[in-house]
Amino acid sequence: MTPSPRATWSLRLNLMAWLAVPMVLVLAASLWLSYRTAWRQAMLFMDRDLTSSARMIAEEVRYREGAVGVVIPPAALEIFASDAHDEVAYAVFDDKGVLIAGFPGLTPPSRKPTDGRVEGFDTMFRTEAMHAVSLRQPVITPDGISSVSVTVGETLKARDALVRALWLRGFIEQAALMLAAAISIWFGITVELRPILRLRRAVLDRPPQSVEPFDPGEVQQELQPLVTAVNDHMARLGAYLDRQQRFLDGAAHQMRTPLAILKTQIGVGRRSKSDAQVREVLDKIDQSVSSMTRVTNQLLTLGRVEYERARPAAGPVDMRELLRAVVADIAPRALDCGVDLALEAETPCTVAANELLVREMVVNLVDNAIQHAGRGAVATLSAEVADGMGVITVRDNGPGVPRAERERLFSRFRRGRSAGAGGSGLGLTIVAEIAEMSGGKVELPEVPGGNGFAVAVTLPLWQEDQGTASTNLVV
Ligand SMILES: Nc1ncnc2c1ncn2[C@@H]1O[C@H](COP(=O)(O)OP(=O)(O)O)[C@@H](O)[C@H]1O
Ligand SMILES: [Mg+2]
Repeated sequence: MTPSPRATWSLRLNLMAWLAVPMVLVLAASLWLSYRTAWRQAMLFMDRDLTSSARMIAEEVRYREGAVGVVIPPAALEIFASDAHDEVAYAVFDDKGVLIAGFPGLTPPSRKPTDGRVEGFDTMFRTEAMHAVSLRQPVITPDGISSVSVTVGETLKARDALVRALWLRGFIEQAALMLAAAISIWFGITVELRPILRLRRAVLDRPPQSVEPFDPGEVQQELQPLVTAVNDHMARLGAYLDRQQRFLDGAAHQMRTPLAILKTQIGVGRRSKSDAQVREVLDKIDQSVSSMTRVTNQLLTLGRVEYERARPAAGPVDMRELLRAVVADIAPRALDCGVDLALEAETPCTVAANELLVREMVVNLVDNAIQHAGRGAVATLSAEVADGMGVITVRDNGPGVPRAERERLFSRFRRGRSAGAGGSGLGLTIVAEIAEMSGGKVELPEVPGGNGFAVAVTLPLWQEDQGTASTNLVV
């Protein structure tokens, strides 16, 4: 499994990146909001000053000596004294739009404010941008009630400075908050990673043969399934190592005994005086070597089965063809031993398995029939489909094995009481392990008529769509 490039980045940086994106978005949104708030607040202050100035001016508007006039009270303009040195402009127009006091060029808004209401608006005065307010003031004249509009505007330096000051403060507060959050998260992650680093240390410090489980309680809840999965894997690995160890022990035993016998036979041969005696010993040595070859082959097969178990590879195996090939291969040996081979495979039967191992399995069963059924026996090989599974049976009409003894025959190195010399007790173990690793099972059914021995191996059938799923057919 190749790790995706993303998965190999630093966990700390990944988490920080996940947090940084929303944090920056939130910071941007909140900066914008605080700018808006600061701006609104500054506008409020400005409008308040402009309005009170406009009102002061409006209160001074009188009808005097035949005309509406105004004397601008100094206080009305002093309100604006600020460090920003803003320019202030005012203008009073009568109801005909004639400027009666103030600066030409500061025009009221085109839409006249209703009486008593103050209208705020942005405008230009000469070359300066200004914010201004305008209000209407009724004036009593001999001809009745007339009205004037009073407009007061101020350049924006003080307002902008206030917005900046208010906003900067909000910005610094929020940035400090974010920074504190980032530092806290960084430290948090560092602390939270410690159990994983401890686990890593524990894994690195382990002796190679140790398969003791790790304590899931040592890590956070979210990581416990990972530790449990690793423990499960190690349990399987432990079982595998155990099997390997037992296999090696058994193999060593199996090799030592015949080697000792061989050594004795050679000793006897050396001491033999006559040619006839030497030939007799050589025959025995030949038998011993044949038997050892068989045992060695079976041990190697068992080792192979163990290896394949770790990476099962299933392909379609045509059982009719396979049985036919096995019969053709073994027929000469069966003939030598006086055992007849028969084949019963009328229906197609294609199972999903490793072809070499299934062949090994069948060869072991036929070998057993030849070895244990005795001269004159008939061994029948059959393949059929039953209950959606492929069933391969090898049966013979030899002496068989008493029922009480049967189940034990699948254990390693276990042989029947009446089995003749030259076996290893591994044949049926190999058969059982191959059946099991192929997803099947092996049984010893009753033989029709009660006499003889039969082994039935059930294997899953090959499904047509399996071809795409299974890739490693190589054996
Ligand atoms: N076809 C058979 N007829 C009678 N007994 C059998 C037959 N096949 C197996 N057995 C018994 O099962 C035992 C285990 O078989 P196996 O594991 O192949 O070991 P081995 O053949 O080396 O003795 C044999 O020793 C024998 O007693
Ligand atoms: Mg055998």
